[in-house]
Amino acid sequence: MWQQLSKWLLTALSFLLLDVLAYAPLSDDTLVNRLPRPDTADFDILQTGNLLAPILIPRVPGTPGSKQVLQHFVDFFNQSLPDWTVSFQNSTFKTPTHGEQEVPFINLIATRDPPGSQPGNVGHLTLVAHYDSKYQPEGFIGATDSAAPCAMLMHAVRSIDAALTNKWNFMSAQGDLDPDFEELKGIQVLFLDGEEAFHSWSSTDSIYGARSLAEEWEHTMHPATSIYKNYLDSIDLFVLLDLLGSPEDLSIPSWQHTSHWSYVKMAEAEERLRKQGLFKSNPDRVWLPDKNKKETDVFNSYIMQDDHLPFMARGVHVLHLIPSRFPSVWHTMRDDGEHLDIAVVEDWALLTTAFAAEYMELEGYFEQQPSKRVKRNDDAISKTEL
Ligand SMILES: *[C@@H]1O[C@H](CO)[C@@H](O)[C@H](O)[C@H]1NC(C)=O
Ligand SMILES: *[C@@H]1O[C@H](CO)[C@@H](O)[C@H](O)[C@H]1NC(C)=O
Ligand SMILES: [Zn+2]
Repeated sequence: MWQQLSKWLLTALSFLLLDVLAYAPLSDDTLVNRLPRPDTADFDILQTGNLLAPILIPRVPGTPGSKQVLQHFVDFFNQSLPDWTVSFQNSTFKTPTHGEQEVPFINLIATRDPPGSQPGNVGHLTLVAHYDSKYQPEGFIGATDSAAPCAMLMHAVRSIDAALTNKWNFMSAQGDLDPDFEELKGIQVLFLDGEEAFHSWSSTDSIYGARSLAEEWEHTMHPATSIYKNYLDSIDLFVLLDLLGSPEDLSIPSWQHTSHWSYVKMAEAEERLRKQGLFKSNPDRVWLPDKNKKETDVFNSYIMQDDHLPFMARGVHVLHLIPSRFPSVWHTMRDDGEHLDIAVVEDWALLTTAFAAEYMELEGYFEQQPSKRVKRNDDAISKTEL
């Protein structure tokens, strides 16, 4: 009993601290007038589309399609986010379908840290999706799995980048960016390779890139005096998006006890965006229904096999945004651009943006958007006409 009580107190205390340290809701004004929305070209699935379209090709590890998509990410950061640092983490594995041949897996890591900070003293909000597509069936696209989630993350980080600059400039000018005293937060995107099984899902035939990265980062140490011991430690929260963008009504449970607080924050952001009429998709749905789940309820953290596993096994806190029921097109040729609901994709991009902005505590640093408020109905009509 006593043990339970003290455990409860500790949990309550840590939740309070996390709340205070790592999250600040955006104002209604920022949500309505300042948070950038996707341009019509961003999630256009035709070849002219900006963010998503270039990912909607087969991109099996080690193939030209994979290289091409990787180049799309590199170009995106180079052109739209020049303050970000892009690097790769590479590995090779044998697979059940390639005999003795070593298949290359390339993870892309893009990071933006506060100016002047020591890498070992910055904790990251780490936003993650896998960019590879399945080996079979041949020609498989994987639009929800996970081309659309990759594009959502691109939109989110591009949308908060100027506010980050504003915040860090302001803090520097105030003398508040003192690396010795300030708890520093940075942001990071991981586009992981080789999530899909080549033959059939098993612990050795799946999440190739994630397994390699988690292991390497556990052993990549920061200087001895750093706040964070190694690269893995520097991940404050690992937010994994997967199987999003379907027109079906698929809700996402709160999978993880340790990160439930962040699920609640995202659910609150979802609720506020819906209430303000800022979503283009069906406003009556709820994607994140477990807001009121109790700390004492059951969390099925190990049920869903995905890229988070090797990170979670090493103690990283994970917010896993994957529906409990998969889209009906899952792992079929129908999981392509035409079977996405673009309104849903854009709304997820907006929600991810709001969450990242709140996590990075960017209230007050967004500039007024030139475009006015989105009118949901007009937009829906022009969509169907297209
Ligand atoms: C980034 O873009 C510049 C010019 O637009 C180019 O010279 C440079 O090679 C690019 N870098 C990468 C890594 O693609
Ligand atoms: C990893 O692969 C990328 C993409 O092919 C390449 O540009 C990079 O040089 C490789 N990095 C290392 C350390 O081998
Ligand atoms: Zn898949």
